[in-house]
Amino acid sequence: MDVIHSVAALRERLQRVPNNVFVPTMGNLHAGHIQLINIAKPRAACTVVSIFVNRLQFGPREDFERYPRTLEADCEKLRAAGVDVVFAPDEKEIYPEPQTFVVEPSELQHTLDGAVRPGHFRGVSTVVLKLFNMVAPHSAIFGKKDYQQCLVLTNMVRQLALPIDIILAETVRADDGLALSSRNTYLSPDERREAPRLYQQLCRARDELVDGARDYQRIELDVMAELAHHGWKPDYIAVRRQSDLQSPVNGEQRLVVLAAARLGKTRLIDNIEANL
Ligand code: PAF
Repeated sequence: MDVIHSVAALRERLQRVPNNVFVPTMGNLHAGHIQLINIAKPRAACTVVSIFVNRLQFGPREDFERYPRTLEADCEKLRAAGVDVVFAPDEKEIYPEPQTFVVEPSELQHTLDGAVRPGHFRGVSTVVLKLFNMVAPHSAIFGKKDYQQCLVLTNMVRQLALPIDIILAETVRADDGLALSSRNTYLSPDERREAPRLYQQLCRARDELVDGARDYQRIELDVMAELAHHGWKPDYIAVRRQSDLQSPVNGEQRLVVLAAARLGKTRLIDNIEANL
């Protein structure tokens, strides 16, 4: 496995392979990332993983500074998973000058997580487009835990005619249902015990939808009340259409329930699809 820090060395290394599949990450890798790599590996001669904590997608009061940076441990996991190339640039390599050209991801960037984290999806789209230009993959894999991110990036690739297949992978969960996330390491032992409630409530909402409930707002408010009752501070609980994350009209069959909520100082997000 080659660990590469510069764009020039990356391009040089990738010139020697016929095609590559790409898994962009911010590091602090867990079993969810390894699942993305397992999906990636059979798809190309070379599997490339990037590790870059992207300042552009963090708001001024978010956790950019304290985001866990664990390059050595990450590389061990990637080596064991059979990755060929790790691209771990520093900030100057990705942003050698102020990033004045950015990708604006349409109205999708203003709803749900985008409403709570202004500029977040602009930062994500901009860095992912840059990484795509550096790695030039034929496919790239993203996890569905970041459901809105998946939709934003799929739309970006389609609308900008990028020759890249986007593959979406199911969320990997701990045995108690908690979606794996690098931010889970922020949870205290008590919070970790409480954390699975988010997914349990999403399951409850999904079951109600499957059983025929159509009062979306009532479902959202019930989940919100249950979480608040147990000390959470929900940012949103939303029943939306899978296709564009707009509010569903009755008769819509492919729905997704999305949630973001704070437990202590940690903000967790999760979602569940409901196919009626
Ligand atoms: O999902 C992530 O870890 C990040 O948003 C990504 C796609 C690596 C861009 O920084």
